[in-house]
Amino acid sequence: IVSHLSNVRPKVVICRHLGPAMPLLEDRKDIEVVLWPEDRSCERSWLLEQIKGAAGVLVFLSDRVNEELLEAAGPNLRVVSTMSVGYEHIDLPLMAQRKIRVGYTPDVLTEAVADICVMLALMAGRNDGAAYSLVKNGDWAKPKYAWSPFTFCGPQLSVTPSSPTRTVGFLGFGRIAQATLARLIPFGITHCLYTGSPSSRPDTARDAALQATHKLKALERVEADRLARESDILFVLTPGGAETYHLVDAAFLRKMKPMSVLVNTSRGSVVDSDALATALREKWIWGAGLDVVEGEPLISEDHPLVKEPQCVIVPHIGSATFQTRLDMATRAIKNLYGGLFGEEMPAELGK
Ligand code: DGY
Repeated sequence: IVSHLSNVRPKVVICRHLGPAMPLLEDRKDIEVVLWPEDRSCERSWLLEQIKGAAGVLVFLSDRVNEELLEAAGPNLRVVSTMSVGYEHIDLPLMAQRKIRVGYTPDVLTEAVADICVMLALMAGRNDGAAYSLVKNGDWAKPKYAWSPFTFCGPQLSVTPSSPTRTVGFLGFGRIAQATLARLIPFGITHCLYTGSPSSRPDTARDAALQATHKLKALERVEADRLARESDILFVLTPGGAETYHLVDAAFLRKMKPMSVLVNTSRGSVVDSDALATALREKWIWGAGLDVVEGEPLISEDHPLVKEPQCVIVPHIGSATFQTRLDMATRAIKNLYGGLFGEEMPAELGK
């Protein structure tokens, strides 16, 4: 009986095609792969059906890993691997309770997301939303849009002789924030402020080293209030979830500088969309660059933020480069195998 059981290949459910990483799954003869066949997020009813008896599942941001899914899977499930660094969609306490290992994909996407942070800061500051639509709509030829001294001006990210200081702020100061800071140094950034999660201890040695490396006048961990008041460009780079829900709300936005730019590339739930739309409309801040929006992807053209000309929105593409997505898919598959066969996972949550 034992030898018969050991020949049973563990079943794994893959919630979406993994493009060029698929051979890593297809070439393995020791697992049974069940793959959602279409090029869109898998349907919940399909997942609940297919996961019955599975030992592992590879999920994406839109697949909720909760009690319902675990009940449908049954007792064989031993690993959940998400192709994301974020894990808002996974009920971690429940996973711990059921002793299900969870893999995720940090590190490999840090550089790509830091790139897009800078892109959004520039686009939002320099009115890219309105300026780009104007060209696309064929309006550039209209006399009122011909070059003029102050049309389409916005705050400059880089320092100038007449404006020689810039403060960059980070709500959350992990890997992506630090990679973003490094990219901004050539723009002449002079000060860096950040908030840490209440459960994390200040790392003064790291901060002193970063300040020296980047030749900053200051690099300080501060309270949210000071972060809001002093940042010229503020990046939201904190994980989502209950702890960070609407940290950027009307009260926070009210404190920001009228010429400041807010960039969110972490999770939509951290920023109150209605408050941000008001802040833009009433000019409490200059602009916003968003890769994530609460309630995505159900964001239509009448969404209050889509209607704001000073708001640049891209559809959650922060990690979308060929190199990074392949690295993420590869890591997610390796995490899956690690969990399936009781081996080390390249990136396991809680380890
Ligand atoms: C993540 O990995 O969590 C990003 O939001 C998507 O790449």
